[in-house]
Amino acid sequence: MPALVLLGAQWGDEGKGKATDLLGGSVDYVVRYQGGNNAGHTVVVGDQKYALHLLPSGILSPGCTPVIGNGVVVDPSVLLSELSGLNERGVDTSKLLISGNAHIITPYNVTVDKVTERFLGKRKIGTTGRGIGPTYADKINRVGIRVQDLYDESILTQKVEAALDGKNQLLTKLYNRRAIAVDQVVEELLGYAEKLAPYVTDTVLVLNQALDDDKVVLFEGGQGTLLDIDHGTYPFVTSSNPTAGGACTGAGVGPTKISRVIGILKAYTTRVGSGPFPTELFDEDGEALRRIGGERGVTTGRDRRCGWFDAVIARYATRVNGLTDFFLTKLDVLTGWERIPVCVAYEIDGRRVEELPYSQSDFHHAKPVYETLPGWSEDITKAKSFSDLPKNAQNYVKALEEMSGAPISAIGVGPGRDETIEINSFL
Ligand code: GDP
Ligand code: IMO
Ligand code: MG
Repeated sequence: MPALVLLGAQWGDEGKGKATDLLGGSVDYVVRYQGGNNAGHTVVVGDQKYALHLLPSGILSPGCTPVIGNGVVVDPSVLLSELSGLNERGVDTSKLLISGNAHIITPYNVTVDKVTERFLGKRKIGTTGRGIGPTYADKINRVGIRVQDLYDESILTQKVEAALDGKNQLLTKLYNRRAIAVDQVVEELLGYAEKLAPYVTDTVLVLNQALDDDKVVLFEGGQGTLLDIDHGTYPFVTSSNPTAGGACTGAGVGPTKISRVIGILKAYTTRVGSGPFPTELFDEDGEALRRIGGERGVTTGRDRRCGWFDAVIARYATRVNGLTDFFLTKLDVLTGWERIPVCVAYEIDGRRVEELPYSQSDFHHAKPVYETLPGWSEDITKAKSFSDLPKNAQNYVKALEEMSGAPISAIGVGPGRDETIEINSFL
């Protein structure tokens, strides 16, 4: 049976949590494959609202096994408090599996994230301050701490020593901070070992055996295509691969196992943090999108930057992820605009450009070329099928589909599980 990847097609916050939760009841495993608690996935079930940061959204579906894959970076204290928060609300979290190869966000990684951002000043990335970048940097530098290291005190101590050696020099001599003591870090990390032990396993083996047994596995991306370290708007990106290939490396599953790649696509665009954003609005339309769409970060509480839909970006997401489907979200937010501009191409230094330029200087100069589509005023939140939508909303969706390069197989018309129009089944 199939492995499906579900990922963000823009700059994150497209509604991945809702889409995953919707499928959660029909899949056997939901796997996070990259990122960490920089993510904020909101899931609304009936009158209950959940904000998940590190746990896969499948944790809210009783039949589903949630998995934190090897590609994820894990802050143990955040994980444990997220688990106890869910337990207090009656959610059973006992099936969770965590890869022993996942890397740990240590307290010093969080410190380094914050001080480096401060030193970048106005050139800062606008990170979530959760230690994500420094933890991935340690992984690539081969001085990272993995979940399995919590179970061997001697190895853990050696590794923390190696990691802190250079960092303490930087912290004290460059950043004017106090040195971090090895013993203190080791003691804190060892304090998590027993609590995490029931969940830690060889998730690569589990997932491959599940696929051999025809189970359905859903890979849930964090962040989005344009935040990808390789394919995003570097350096204003996160430090992992949210794009489809990341699911293979971040979970240890071969590309031949993946049969469907679903891009979650907001009916307009948002971005949090610094970096270029061609369709960004600084007027009352941008303010209205933010207000009506509730565009405030789940993780950091920052206002999201808002703008019109950008088809150049959607086409790019189709290409770099090999998307088979789109799930268009938040169409209801656009209700009430008489006319809705959609960016169909860019103008860069007097040239019309149809595809995302690879050159960052070109992208910084990109001005959106808009086509304006007629809007609708009818409430669409109760729509259950495509034909329930007003004609202009149907035409808006069809136009986006044509420009974006993959079929729109579902449409979100509200935050709730049932506020979704299914066009083609994902399973
Ligand atoms: P994620 O990070 O991709 O999971 O997205 P977030 O949860 O950060 O942001 C998406 C927000 O939009 C959440 O508050 C969702 O509850 C909400 N949402 C998702 N789909 C829809 C939709 O179709 N319509 C509306 N109005 N809200 C939606
Ligand atoms: P979800 O999964 C939106 C952004 C940050 C910053 C950049 C780098 O909810 O879509 P990091 O802390 O990752 O080093 O920050 O990436 N960012 C997100 N933006 N949604 C997210 O997650 C994000 N995770 C990180 O704002 O610009
Ligand atoms: Mg989010």
